[in-house]
Amino acid sequence: MFRIKLGDKSYLVEEGESVLETLLRNGIKAPHTCKMAVCKRCISRVVSGDVPRRAQLSLTPKQIYNKRFLPCVCYPESDLDIEIHTTPSHPGDADHRY
Ligand code: FES
Repeated sequence: MFRIKLGDKSYLVEEGESVLETLLRNGIKAPHTCKMAVCKRCISRVVSGDVPRRAQLSLTPKQIYNKRFLPCVCYPESDLDIEIHTTPSHPGDADHRY
């Protein structure tokens, strides 16, 4: 099993679980809608580790170059250190981890 590191915490990915599912199961408010690589609302950035090709199939070359991936269709094949984008609930309350 692999681990997902997000900030100073890490989470164990269970068998058959996507990165998004791991985050949600652990109470992380990761943005998402479709969970099938269509809306791109979950788009995140990998800091270290290799994301499977499938997790970048619908992204632009620029997004791939910038290490973006879609956690909803990312089934890790190694440990990953990631950053997620969260929508600020108030203007000026932006999360700059992304
Ligand atoms: S939740 Fe829609 S692309 Fe990931």
